[in-house]
Formats: sequence, structure tokens, C-alpha cells
Amino acid sequence: MTLLAPQDGRAYLDCTFGGGGHAAALLARAPHCTLDAMDRDPAAAERFAALAGTQVGRCHFHSENFRHLDRVPGRFDGVLMDIGVSSYQLDVPERGFSFRFDAPNDMRMDTRTGRSAAEFLERSERSEIERAVRDYGEEPRWYRVVNAIIAARGTGRLARTSSFAELVAEAAPPAPGPRGPHPATRTFQGIRIAVNDELGALADALPLAFGKLNAGGVLAVISFHSLEDRMVKRYMNEVAGRPVDRDDARNQDDRVKRAELLTRKAVQPSVAEQERNPRSRSARLRAVRRIDV
Ligand SMILES: C[S@@+](CC[C@H](N)C(=O)[O-])C[C@H]1O[C@@H](n2cnc3c(N)ncnc32)[C@H](O)[C@@H]1O
Repeated sequence: MTLLAPQDGRAYLDCTFGGGGHAAALLARAPHCTLDAMDRDPAAAERFAALAGTQVGRCHFHSENFRHLDRVPGRFDGVLMDIGVSSYQLDVPERGFSFRFDAPNDMRMDTRTGRSAAEFLERSERSEIERAVRDYGEEPRWYRVVNAIIAARGTGRLARTSSFAELVAEAAPPAPGPRGPHPATRTFQGIRIAVNDELGALADALPLAFGKLNAGGVLAVISFHSLEDRMVKRYMNEVAGRPVDRDDARNQDDRVKRAELLTRKAVQPSVAEQERNPRSRSARLRAVRRIDV
């Protein structure tokens, strides 16, 4: 909210409405702003209706993947993306995002389209499963996990969250010693990222989101995975006319400055915030202010 600095009369786009926490905070600071919100999860629409009920006329919901945010009309003074999975999605057993509950192994954010996690695991090429478990999940024992998944095809063990979590825990059992996270945590994250093509959607959305800003408008992105944060950092450096990474050999003259970086380093949750909200642990916030249009 400090970076977006919402003001009455201005227009904002929340690309990841989720439970509406950010949207509500924005409206509390600027009750006479215009708010457009998106979420690919159809369940978010109902929560939006409840929030917008008090704000007649100035709130619009778009039940869309943010990779299509060019379909939302208008320009904005602030665009917010808080990517990844919502607490609602994690806490509703039937959505299949969590190994804490036994449910169909689904993991789709948009339940109207695409393949469930079970279908992805049964039918994808081995290389796709490897990418999910190794690269998106960052599972150190990915090789064993992938072998176990391929071997379990056709047995029904990939169909439900609990049998899938058990299979992963057998393939990569927890190390002896103090209890860490569940051994399937990383694999579940990786499969979820693959099933929802989360990195592809972010890559498509960043330039569209920046393109939607008015001069002086702010793009703020919160990510929860190092691959996403790297993508956001590179994109924001690019529009700020800075080298995108250490290997960027372009001269200053070859780079165009279209924005000012508002966060030199990613903003991370304080220890107190992590204690209050453990799910914030891996969050990284970055923001830019557009200077051209
Ligand atoms: C971390 S939650 C957002 C929580 C929200 N900021 C709040 O305050 O409650 C992420 C939300 O983004 C949505 N989402 C993730 N990827 C998306 C995409 N490509 N397009 C649209 N919505 C997406 C998810 O469905 C989920 O509801």
C-alpha cells in the first residue's frame, strides 16, 4: 500500500484478487477510487461480489487469467500482482492443492479449463515431469520422485492428494532428525506451477501490466518462488534501463529508461510478519513507477 499510495479518483487493477485482502486495503485507503480486479479462480468472483456490494459502480471483476489482462479496458495508476496460490485454495480440500487433506489431485486454479494434476502426472512426457519436480519444485531428490511417478502410472496412486503425497514421501523419505516440512511439499509446489503454467502466465503478463500504466503509475509484484522473482527483477531492471543481469553487456545508450525502480532490493516480510503469517515467508515484493507513456 505504501508503494501504490492509493488515492481517490485514481484507477487500480488487482490482477490476483484471491480473498480480496489487498483489494479491501486499497479501498479502505481510497474509497472513491476505481478498482478492477481479476482472478482466474471462478470462486474468487463470489468473494469479489461481497466486497464490491459496498462500493456500487466503481468495482469490476474479470474472471480471467492475467496473461490476458490486455482484455481489461482502460489504463491504471496502480497494478498489483500477488502471484501464486491463495489461502482459500490451500484450505479448501476439494481443490487438491494440499496434502493435508485427502481429495482428488486437481491443483487447477481455474477449474473450468486445463488438465488436473492427476492427468498431468499420468500423461505428460517425462521431461515435463522432471521440469516440474526439479526446476519448479527444487526437489533435490527429483530423480527418485520422477521415477516413482512414472512407475505409479495406471495404478491409481496419482489420482488423490494423499496417495500421491505418500508416494513422494516413500521415494524421498524425510531425513532423520528434527521434523522439517512434509517431504512432498516441494513436489506439490512444482506440479502446481506446471499444471497452472504459472511462469508462462507471469512472462506474458508483466509487459501487459506495465503497458496498462498511466505515467506515474506503479506496478507492484509479489512473488513466492525464486524463478518468478528472477523474472520480475529482470523485467523491472529492463524497463528501468538498467542491466537485466551481470552478463548484460549492452551500453547505457542501448537501454531505454521507461520507469524508476522503487525497490532496489526485493522487500521481504519482517520476522514479526512471518510469525504472524507463516505463508508470507518466501514473499518478495518489487515495484516500478512508469515515467513515460
Ligand atoms: C496469493 S493469492 C492473492 C491473495 C490476495 N492478494 C488477497 O489479498 O487475498 C493469488 C491469487 O492469484 C490468482 N492467480 C494466480 N495466477 C493467476 C493468473 N495467471 N491469472 C489470474 N489469477 C491468478 C490465484 O487464483 C489466487 O487467487
